[in-house]
Amino acid sequence: MIAVMASITIRQLDEVLKKKLRLRAARNGRSVEDEVRNVLRAAADDTGREILENFTPPGKAGQTPRRAPSPVPSGTRRVLLVVGGGIAAYKSLDLIRRLKERDIAVRCILTNAAQEFITPLSAGAIAGERAFTDLFDPAHEFDVGHIRLARECDLIVVAPATADLMAKLAGGHADDLATAVLLATTAKVLLAPAMNPRMWSNKATQRNLARLAADGFEVVGPNEGEMAEANERGFGRMAEPQEIAGAAERLLAPQTRALEGKRVLITSGPTHEPIDPVRYIANRSSGKQGNAIAQAAAQAGAQVTLISGPVNLPDPPSVSVIKVETAREMLAAAERALPADAAIFAAAVADWRVANAGEQKIKKKAGQAVPELSLVENPDILATIAKRKTQRPKLVIGFAAETENVVANAKAKLAGKGCDWILANDVSSRTGIMGGDRNTITFVTDTSAENWPAQSKDGVARMLIERIAKEIAENK
Ligand code: C5P
Repeated sequence: MIAVMASITIRQLDEVLKKKLRLRAARNGRSVEDEVRNVLRAAADDTGREILENFTPPGKAGQTPRRAPSPVPSGTRRVLLVVGGGIAAYKSLDLIRRLKERDIAVRCILTNAAQEFITPLSAGAIAGERAFTDLFDPAHEFDVGHIRLARECDLIVVAPATADLMAKLAGGHADDLATAVLLATTAKVLLAPAMNPRMWSNKATQRNLARLAADGFEVVGPNEGEMAEANERGFGRMAEPQEIAGAAERLLAPQTRALEGKRVLITSGPTHEPIDPVRYIANRSSGKQGNAIAQAAAQAGAQVTLISGPVNLPDPPSVSVIKVETAREMLAAAERALPADAAIFAAAVADWRVANAGEQKIKKKAGQAVPELSLVENPDILATIAKRKTQRPKLVIGFAAETENVVANAKAKLAGKGCDWILANDVSSRTGIMGGDRNTITFVTDTSAENWPAQSKDGVARMLIERIAKEIAENK
């Protein structure tokens, strides 16, 4: 259906009306165009409110949403969508549709700034329930109230989450309806940040992000790409509505035991390759991604063996953890942990070790040449397990940390190592992935390369475990 919009120019209006509008605009300190826009917005909102208030859900005659919002059938998953004030707000209207087509009921709150971009009428009409805007609106407080809004949902999605909203949430502010609800809720909250790349990389925003992640907020995006401003690109684009809806659905999913009875082997963390008894060669891997995968696999019911190099992380619960130092120890432990249904190699294994590692501490002696370290290649654990003739796990999955040509290098690695999937990520320093809490994955198989949204390492782990469970179920 094509909607035809009426087009009116102010010049065509009669003189008396024009005069009244000019006076009104002057009184309100607006341009005439802005005044007309305001009048139209108020009229449309009123009509929309009327439509929504007179809407009677089928089979519930006599009940109007103003006194009692349209009842959601029991068992329906409910999302409260908080729309912040950024240009990406227009995508939130599409997000409502994407959530609803997944049978998720959506109720909206628009911040004041959000209403500069979209109207409560459009959000309410698409959601099928009036959108909420005002903390101190007596009608809203009487009908629903911020505490009920906070309680009557299974998940809150904030999209777009602006820099200002994130700062308020990190500081625990509650000076409008959106922030009051977010402070009052016990539901999980998923943030979809969207802002100018410089605002995103600003230390204050990154500090707020870390605070929010530590407080248990989930984050999807922002992605890298074109910005609304001309010639601007970088990290700051809101994740696409489909990606946000997917992340919401994963958070809403009841804990399934999709990997019950399956054995999963995971390598994680760095390896330490000794130079002498006190010195070693290492790398910056934190083990966070491997630990997150182990935790997600255990939550899905798998029997998990996590073979971890030296990390500063607590052991994930319900996981059998084997601690190793060197690549050779890691390989031996991986071989001992077979058979397994799936093996995920998330460790950053040192490619080389010191051939002539000293038994004693190498001494610095004045006037003598510096010692020469000669390196030999370490075994490739992933390739060794993937190419096994016996006890090869049905799914062998590797990671590829790249700083350039991510997909091409991942495809070459997939073939060279004989594994089934590669999760490739760009670890160049601008991405902050190494050691950080977030990850941006390209999921590579021999026939496809799929960009996953930038998200927490927990989010990546949940997506991967869902994929593994599906693959195992389909190829039983
Ligand atoms: O060759 P590269 O180190 O880039 O390959 C990365 C993948 O291979 C990761 O999955 C990593 O865990 C695995 N790997 C391994 N043993 C090595 C080197 C890498 O298992 N010696």
